[in-house]
Amino acid sequence: MKSLVIYYSHFGNTRVIAERIARQLGEESKAISIDSFDMSYLKGVKLLIVGSPILGWMPYEKIQTFLNSLKPGELKGVKAASFDTRVKLFIHGDAAAKISKKLEEVGADIVIKPQAFYVKGQSGPLFPGEIEKAKAWADMIKINLR
Ligand SMILES: Cc1cc2nc3c(=O)[nH]c(=O)nc-3n(C[C@H](O)[C@H](O)[C@H](O)COP(=O)(O)O)c2cc1C
Repeated sequence: MKSLVIYYSHFGNTRVIAERIARQLGEESKAISIDSFDMSYLKGVKLLIVGSPILGWMPYEKIQTFLNSLKPGELKGVKAASFDTRVKLFIHGDAAAKISKKLEEVGADIVIKPQAFYVKGQSGPLFPGEIEKAKAWADMIKINLR
């Protein structure tokens, strides 16, 4: 199944998660930074995953712009999921849930709960086990697609 993981990453942690997920999803999958993405990448994509760091309780601005550019029904027939990276704070917001809500609003079929991955400080690194968690999350997506 052709899959695309669109992500933003400032310090590199979200990129590591995005690339691990794409690798686990298989040969037809790739991860692309929102900075290199254009709408032509969506052609033929059957599974779309969007990931962002939480920045001020929200997904990164360019990710929001991309999501807001999608027209109603544009992702009809597309399976989708979202994740974010965040620090361990008592109140940290939830970018992944916001992304999934938007994807659903434009017709995507959300196949798994939004997932958080944790970094130790603003620039990381990822907490131990988070890369393995990304692999397991991707495996769960594959199971849910069956
Ligand atoms: C300006 C700024 C605002 C942030 N706001 C939040 C926040 O509201 N909640 C949170 O959990 N983490 C917040 N963080 C931490 C980021 O989520 C963290 O830097 C990010 O997960 C690192 O991902 P990256 O390495 O892919 O850039 C913030 C970081 C920055 C630089």
